[in-house]
Amino acid sequence: MTNRTGAPVVVGVDGSASALDAVRFAAREAAARHRPLRVVHAFIWPLFGTPLGPVPFAPPDAGLRHQAERTVAEAVAEAGKIAPEVAVTGEVIDGAPTPVLLAESRDAALLVLGSRGLGGFAELVIGSVAVQVSARADCPVLVMKGEARADGPVLVGVDGSALSNEALGFAFEEAALRHTGLVAVHAWLVPTPLGPGDMLPLVYDVDALEADEGRALAEAVAGWSERYPDVPVRHRMAHGAAARVLVQESAAAQLTVVGAHGRGALAGALLGSVSHAVLHHSHSPLAIVRHREGRDN
Ligand SMILES: Nc1ncnc2c1ncn2[C@@H]1O[C@H](COP(=O)(O)OP(=O)(O)OP(=O)(O)O)[C@@H](O)[C@H]1O
Ligand SMILES: [Mg+2]
Repeated sequence: MTNRTGAPVVVGVDGSASALDAVRFAAREAAARHRPLRVVHAFIWPLFGTPLGPVPFAPPDAGLRHQAERTVAEAVAEAGKIAPEVAVTGEVIDGAPTPVLLAESRDAALLVLGSRGLGGFAELVIGSVAVQVSARADCPVLVMKGEARADGPVLVGVDGSALSNEALGFAFEEAALRHTGLVAVHAWLVPTPLGPGDMLPLVYDVDALEADEGRALAEAVAGWSERYPDVPVRHRMAHGAAARVLVQESAAAQLTVVGAHGRGALAGALLGSVSHAVLHHSHSPLAIVRHREGRDN
């Protein structure tokens, strides 16, 4: 059991503009949570083709290792400009980005990443490090998507699963920190047959179904509302596929929150289909929440 008191907000940087956005977001987040900020850059020696250390006839600080140090120093300086009250440290860590960031997630309160990095494949909406880390981290992962904005509610997807309950807790906390409201969305569809021979009624009472689903949403939210009485909450029932509804609504949100997987958790699937789709298409920064065992946050 890990005690996360004083655990830092960690941000991964690779010298990209998206990672620098992540640094600004992480600095504000650390300030709001009264936590230190830790900037990390995973550094792996390339196999060939690029000068590693000092280069003949080049300035003494040329070479990849120095560039890595500079990337971290620039990020630390940027964080200092955004949130001078936050204690910021930076480190270059030897290793590939995904394992380094996953190791960091064990002791972090929150891990913040850009959606893209320096990888050159222009059509990707989200880089492989961001996908892999958000699927497997030990702490909530916040991926910079869309525009960081200070207006709009926090949006959270609720499906009644245990993880969506954790997502609700995280979303309430964020809404309270940001002095904004919360929109709790539950998207629902009429039942579909689960297997061969599964008998379903020929006619649905759609209103009754919606009322049932609405009650489940209200119950899921009620406990958290008591803990955060100052956060105004809107319950939003949507008839349709959850991913589409969340992506649409994310355009008006300052932050979108989902659990890493939900009610339909496939054994072995690291990210549920809704979380996966929203990670790719969200119009706002996205937090992916997972089970916080024995944590005080
Ligand atoms: N070497 C690294 N050290 C620390 N953080 C990193 C590193 N590489 C990527 N990240 C973090 O992950 C985010 C997403 O970068 P990612 O590498 O996934 O995208 P990409 O470079 O566009 O794609 P790919 O690497 O798959 O070609 C970055 O904005 C940064 O926050
Ligand atoms: Mg990359």
